[in-house]
Amino acid sequence: MKKSKLRHFKLLSTFLLIQMLSVSIGHAQEYKSFTPGEIWKDDQGTHINAHGGGLLYHDGIYYWYGEHKTAGRGGNRALVGVGCYASTDLYNWENKGIALPVDAEGSGSDIEKGSVIERPKVIYNESSGKFVMWFHLELKDKGYEAARTALAISDTPTGPFTFVKSLRPNAKTWPIDFPESWKTKSIQEKDLKAWTDQWKNEVSEGLFVRRDFEGGQMSRDMTLFVDEDGKAYHIHSAEENLTLHISELTDDYLDFTGKWAILEPAGHNEAPAIFKKDGRYYMITSGCTGWDPNAARSFVADDIMGPWESLGNPAQGKDADITFDSQSTYILPVQGKEGAFIFMADRWRPQNAIDGRYVWLPIMFEDGRPVLHWKDTWSIEIFD
Ligand code: DGJ
Repeated sequence: MKKSKLRHFKLLSTFLLIQMLSVSIGHAQEYKSFTPGEIWKDDQGTHINAHGGGLLYHDGIYYWYGEHKTAGRGGNRALVGVGCYASTDLYNWENKGIALPVDAEGSGSDIEKGSVIERPKVIYNESSGKFVMWFHLELKDKGYEAARTALAISDTPTGPFTFVKSLRPNAKTWPIDFPESWKTKSIQEKDLKAWTDQWKNEVSEGLFVRRDFEGGQMSRDMTLFVDEDGKAYHIHSAEENLTLHISELTDDYLDFTGKWAILEPAGHNEAPAIFKKDGRYYMITSGCTGWDPNAARSFVADDIMGPWESLGNPAQGKDADITFDSQSTYILPVQGKEGAFIFMADRWRPQNAIDGRYVWLPIMFEDGRPVLHWKDTWSIEIFD
């Protein structure tokens, strides 16, 4: 073979070898857009496993934390822990491994293998330099009755995070603006027929707040929000998922201050996600239908502690009544793009939890309201 032909042959075979290698080790393509609801591969070529997630932007990098699910229906339980991915462009994600591993089965730990760990959110505390994770925790083999929030901390964004404690928040404290007369009402759950107007009215007047006063309020679906002044808030479904509670966290973000407020009493909201735009707070939530999708709701307030005003379903068009087959989990402010927010939601696959999909859509504003339109594909330039 002539020298030039030989060189050409060598180059070609090297190229083919690299191609074969990258296929065999599963390198994903480089993404340049979002494709909501489709398989979304990480740098290893594997569908991203970070469900019910939350994002943190730190030192030029986005970190995506979420529930690491496994195959089958049992895959909704925490068998592995909380996963972490990193990205600089929001399209392409590097798998950083498990940020918070579960403890061994039989260890008796709150976060032992087989517990339920949902909707982990991480915020960074400027003063302590700690990465602070709060998540919804259900104790092993107890269904959803524990209704606790749990804390883990780390010195680095990718972990490993150390589990600190789990609790029901706001024990022995009343919400702000809770009338004196409601604190001593004697009516109890057993005296009422659920879902009647009278029952709803009693829920609105603190039926469950009083019931849970001593031991702390229930805390299921949750999110975190850090305001411009550095104050952080823990927002969660409480009172048997009937009412949302908004609680201020201490300056180190490791505890509750005891200042908390009620949002939409008896409104049956889950999946809270919040953002702030032009000095106003906006929240998007879902109704409560288990893993099945339902119509989202939206709210606005001038003060995070309320009052909150309902703005209706933010989704528009086909499948708006099921939020495009998804449920909210987080709202991401896009760095460097004033007023640009991404609605992050989960399309759950309860029969095969690991196959759950991500529905990320741009939040647009129409007549002063946040709205969501379905997009088969879209990119950040939509905000320009
Ligand atoms: C809906 C919640 O939003 C999810 O996080 C999960 O808790 C499911 N319910 C469980 O049915």
